[in-house]
Amino acid sequence: MADLFMKQAKQYVGARPTYPPELFKFIASKTPCHDLVWDVGTGSGQAAQSLACFYKNVVGTDTSIKQLELAPKLPNVRYERTPPVLSWNELEQIVSIQSNLDLVTIAQALHWFDRRSFYDQVKWVLKKPHGVIAAWCYTEPEVNEAVDAVFEPFYATTDPFWAPELKLVDDRFSTIDFPFEPVEGTDHTGPFEFVAERFMNLEEYFTYIKSWSAYQTAQEKGVELLRDEVIESFKRAWNEDGHEQKVARFPVFLRLGKVGNL
Ligand SMILES: C[S@@+](CC[C@H](N)C(=O)[O-])C[C@H]1O[C@@H](n2cnc3c(N)ncnc32)[C@H](O)[C@@H]1O
Repeated sequence: MADLFMKQAKQYVGARPTYPPELFKFIASKTPCHDLVWDVGTGSGQAAQSLACFYKNVVGTDTSIKQLELAPKLPNVRYERTPPVLSWNELEQIVSIQSNLDLVTIAQALHWFDRRSFYDQVKWVLKKPHGVIAAWCYTEPEVNEAVDAVFEPFYATTDPFWAPELKLVDDRFSTIDFPFEPVEGTDHTGPFEFVAERFMNLEEYFTYIKSWSAYQTAQEKGVELLRDEVIESFKRAWNEDGHEQKVARFPVFLRLGKVGNL
């Protein structure tokens, strides 16, 4: 799986959405202190760079060195490559000592994790009782009626190439195991809904599709998902309104909880 993200690191940084400031404001309003965050599966720093505006320090970890190499270098963000599951010693050396973190974030990555061991480690590093875990995913982009009408049947053809873990994303993280307590001011752990946007031309829209793990998997099986006739249909739909640049809107689904006293 990590391999998928290595091969597609460039497409990833070139086509994924920017998360909205409201998402980070909402999360930051739920942590009493704003000292240290661990952004796990940080990729090329999509969330880490925004977290760096709200928290004094961010540690961004990922299994893919190629993704990390494309992350923006910021004075208060430290990027580290890790194995998929950290030993307790690695956790302490690379991420944090016990009960020291205000927040752990996982953006579009929790479905890939071995969550049982990961949650044990999250509980160990978070401050008790108010340390917060925020995990979100986003689903496929909505552009306009014409483009979405081409996208829907096309997306159905990609079904055999998605890993089973992606079902959790299709379910908008509503079924993902999430053993944490509601934070102050809420009575559940989500999903809370937001929208991420990206201004795109058609080439970037195709780059987004090429950044899918399913696109990579299909290629490895000798299948080109973006066949000529699919490309032509998208072109016709995209050009219908005469605007080359369009806003793609990605629905975001946030699970949010605090660690409690354990
Ligand atoms: C879909 S990308 C999300 C990247 C970024 N957080 C974002 O919001 O766009 C998933 C990332 O999770 C990383 N990843 C997958 N399994 C991981 C694990 N067990 N530990 C750390 N990173 C992992 C992948 O290398 C990839 O960069």
